[in-house]
Amino acid sequence: MKSLDLAVRAASVLLLAQAAVHASPGAVSASKPEPALLSTNDAAPLSTLTTSTVDGDSLAVSDAEVETASIRGANIGGVFLIEPFIKPSLFDQFLSGSNPADIPVDEWTFSAALGKAEARRQLEEHWDTFVTRDHLESLAENGINWIRIPIGYWAFNVTDDEPYVDGQVPYIERLLEWSRDIGLKVELDLHGAPGSQNGYDNSGRRGTPEWLHSRVNVDRTLDVLSKMTGLAAEWSDVVRGIQILNEPSRWKWEVKDIFGFYNEAYDLVRGLAPDVYFMIHDTFLGPKEWPTLVAPRWTQALMDTHIYQMFDNYMVTMNESAHIDMVATMAEDIVKFDRSSIGVVVGEFSAATHDCTKYINGLGRGSRWEGTLQGVTDKPLCPFANCSCTGDYGSNYTEFSGHYKRFLRNYIDAQLDVYDQELVGWFFWNFRTEGAPEWDYLLGVEQGWIPKFPRTAVPKPEVSSSSSGDDESGSAAQSGASRSRLCLGEWACGAVAVLGTVVAASAALAML
Ligand SMILES: *[C@@H]1O[C@H](CO)[C@@H](O)[C@H](O)[C@H]1NC(C)=O
Ligand SMILES: *[C@@H]1O[C@H](CO)[C@@H](O)[C@H](O)[C@H]1NC(C)=O
Ligand SMILES: *[C@@H]1O[C@H](CO)[C@@H](O)[C@H](O)[C@H]1NC(C)=O
Ligand SMILES: *[C@@H]1O[C@H](CO)[C@@H](O)[C@H](O)[C@H]1NC(C)=O
Repeated sequence: MKSLDLAVRAASVLLLAQAAVHASPGAVSASKPEPALLSTNDAAPLSTLTTSTVDGDSLAVSDAEVETASIRGANIGGVFLIEPFIKPSLFDQFLSGSNPADIPVDEWTFSAALGKAEARRQLEEHWDTFVTRDHLESLAENGINWIRIPIGYWAFNVTDDEPYVDGQVPYIERLLEWSRDIGLKVELDLHGAPGSQNGYDNSGRRGTPEWLHSRVNVDRTLDVLSKMTGLAAEWSDVVRGIQILNEPSRWKWEVKDIFGFYNEAYDLVRGLAPDVYFMIHDTFLGPKEWPTLVAPRWTQALMDTHIYQMFDNYMVTMNESAHIDMVATMAEDIVKFDRSSIGVVVGEFSAATHDCTKYINGLGRGSRWEGTLQGVTDKPLCPFANCSCTGDYGSNYTEFSGHYKRFLRNYIDAQLDVYDQELVGWFFWNFRTEGAPEWDYLLGVEQGWIPKFPRTAVPKPEVSSSSSGDDESGSAAQSGASRSRLCLGEWACGAVAVLGTVVAASAALAML
C-alpha cells in the first residue's frame, strides 16, 4: 500500500488516471483529467457489466458463475512489515504524553522508540497472532488460492545500528506450512529495501528514499533476494512467485537505473529458482511505458500494478457511479498492453473510495475527504456539500447504510470483472485490518460486499463495442470480450469461462 510522499503519490495516481484516459501526449503535468473524458464510449462497455450484481439489502446474487483468473489472491500485509493503518493499536500506545514529533510513524521509528528487546517482544506477539491458520482457511474457503506476503529486508539482513528486529523467518515458514496444508500458493514480496525504495511508511521507513543512492543498499537487497529465493526453492511446491521489490520510486530514480536492478535481480532469482514467477512492480508507470521495464529474455515474468482510486485529489471528488466507471477507464491501457511476453497481476486494490481511514495517509495526517491533509488540500474534496468521515465514511461498519454496502459490492464486482477476465490475477489489499472496513477482505466477505468464490452474478449484458474493436487480434482482451458474448446460459457460462481462462493464461496455469 502506498502511503507517504503525498505530492508524489497524488501525482502517481493522477498519471495513471491520465494515462488511462487517453491523455494527450505529454499531458502528464499538473492538470486533472478532463471529466468529459471519463465517460467516453471506450470506457462505457465494461462498466455496464457491473451494475446489477446486488439485489436488495441482502446483497444476494444469482448463481451463474463468473469466470475467474488463475490467481485470486489476498495480501498478508501489515504482519512482517507493520503499517499504522492496518494495526493502529501498535502505534496508539505512543499517543499519550508524547511530543507529536516523537510519535513513531513506521516500523523503523516504532522499533527505535521501544528498543530492540521490547520491540522484539511486541512484534513476536504480533507475528504470532495477527495471521493464523484460521485466517488462511477462511480465505481458502472463500475461494482465495494465492497469498502475497510483504516482507521487510530486515527479516534477512539487518545491521546492529539499525533499530529493526529480525526473527520473522520461522513465522513466515509457519505460514508456508499452513499454505501447503490448505492448498494456497504464495508470492513472497520484498516490500521494504535498505534505505527505503519509496519513502512510504509501508517500506518500513517514511521519509526520503535512499535505496538506489548506494551500491551497499543494492548489494544488501540482492543478498535478501537470494535468501528469499532460497526459501522459494526449498518450498517450491508452495512459493510460486518472488516480487523483487514493491513500488520503487520512479520520481526519485531514472527508470533505466531501476531496470538495471530488475535485470540483476532476474539473473539472481532465475539462477536459484528456474520456474518461480519473477514479479516486478511497474514503478507507477502506465502500461504504454511498461516495455521499458521488461527485458525480452525474461521467462515466467509478471508485471504487478496497483490500482487505487483515493490517493488523489481529483478521484476523491468523484461520486459513486464515476468510481465504477473509472474502473474500466483505469484498466483500459492494461487491457491493450501486449501481454504475450509478460502477464499482468493487480497486486493491490481495495474497496476504498475515500481517504478517511485512520492513518491511511500516514500517522498524524488528515484526509483529502475532509480537507485536512496539510500540503495537499485545505478544502474538503468529498462529492457532497457536507464532508465528514463518519457514518458510511467512518471506521464502524455496523453504521454503514444498505446503500453504501451495495455500492461497495458493485465497486468490487466492477474491479473483479476486469481483473478476472483480462489478467493473470489479483491480490486484494488486505486480508484483514483492525478497523479499516474497505481494506479488509475477510470482513468484506463476511458482510457481503466482497463476493465469495466461485464468484456468482447475474448473467452479464453483451459487451458491445470497443473492447474488441481496437485490440490486437488474438489478445486475451479479445478472448475476454468474446467469452462474455458467448455466455448464453449458466452452464455455457461456466464452461466457456474455464476454457477462456485456460486460453488467456495457459502459461500461468501450467504453474498452478
Ligand atoms: C547483508 O548483505 C551484505 C551484502 O551482500 C553482506 O555483506 C552481509 O554479510 C549481509 N548481512 C547479513 C547479516 O546477512
Ligand atoms: C456523478 O458524476 C458524474 C460525472 O461528474 C455525473 O455525470 C453524474 O450525473 C453524477 N451522478 C450523480 C448521481 O450525481
Ligand atoms: C454534517 O455531517 C455531520 C455528520 O453526518 C453532522 O453531524 C452535521 O450536523 C452535518 N452538518 C451539516 C451542516 O449538515
Ligand atoms: C459501532 O456502532 C454501533 C452502532 O451505532 C455501536 O453500538 C458500537 O458501539 C460502535 N462500535 C464502536 C467500536 O464504536
